[in-house]
Amino acid sequence: MRHLLSTEGLDAATATAVLDTAGTLKQTLLGREVRKLPTLRGRTVVTMFYENSTRTRVSFEVAGKWMSADVINVSAGASSVGKGESLRDTALTLSAAGADCVIVRHPASGAAHRLAGWLEATGTQVVNAGDGMHEHPTQALLDAATLRERLGELAGRRVAIVGDLLHSRVARSNVHLLRTLGAQVVLVAPPTLVPAGVEHWGAEVRHELDPELPGLDAVMLLRVQAERMHGGFFPSAREYSIAYGMNEARLARLPEHAVVLHPGPMLRGMEIAPAVADSPRAAITEQVRNGVHVRMAVLYHLLAGEEIAA
Ligand code: CP
Repeated sequence: MRHLLSTEGLDAATATAVLDTAGTLKQTLLGREVRKLPTLRGRTVVTMFYENSTRTRVSFEVAGKWMSADVINVSAGASSVGKGESLRDTALTLSAAGADCVIVRHPASGAAHRLAGWLEATGTQVVNAGDGMHEHPTQALLDAATLRERLGELAGRRVAIVGDLLHSRVARSNVHLLRTLGAQVVLVAPPTLVPAGVEHWGAEVRHELDPELPGLDAVMLLRVQAERMHGGFFPSAREYSIAYGMNEARLARLPEHAVVLHPGPMLRGMEIAPAVADSPRAAITEQVRNGVHVRMAVLYHLLAGEEIAA
């Protein structure tokens, strides 16, 4: 694998190989006191985050460290970005300083692709940790890993992605990956939070959640991204919660095997009721846990390419 920039175009064989590797790594490390494999010893991984993150940044750092890579975290605020250095010059500097892999989160859609182009001649690989409203491929991979654990193979499963589609890189990456793995996807959102061109995503679009619930195998809730909405949003938080919030009554209308996911951070009480978020039907903590193994697998497929040393 050369770079992981999006799930659009990621073929089923490669995606499945990454998910299988993540599963093997999880089993390999299960119950171990020392969670450390020597696989990426001598390799240097740099995380470069121009937007806030808890889950993605920390789990990439843990993933790299558990694979014995040297992991260096660069935050835009504490680097020469604050002096006006461009993304291109920052990336070339990190590559020249020895980065084998740069993991980037950036507010601009397409930033990771531009970075990969600038670094093409250097051999430094790029992982997109979220670019604007475009893609977040490792989130989709960890969501798929979690769904496979709960449901088995995803072919023929029906998954609803609910909420702020307009601003969501998570939704776009999940639609591509779920469809590649054979799942049906239904997008559910108020008309004001549906992006133009959604008809090209290859998913059904609905504006009401309740009629969909009995036919679903999984519900993925999205975060309402107030920071990308200037001047508030419609519907209001209360209206949103009434129409789309995953509460106990809606949970009861899902089939018993159906699972509830949320990429986090969650807005409890609006997107999801606390009783649902904390119930065994939700897999939110498992998503975070699987995120470490999936990101280990991504680093392994990018930087190693040999048997995983147990
Ligand atoms: N899901 C996700 O990307 O979370 P963070 O913003 O905390 O990384």
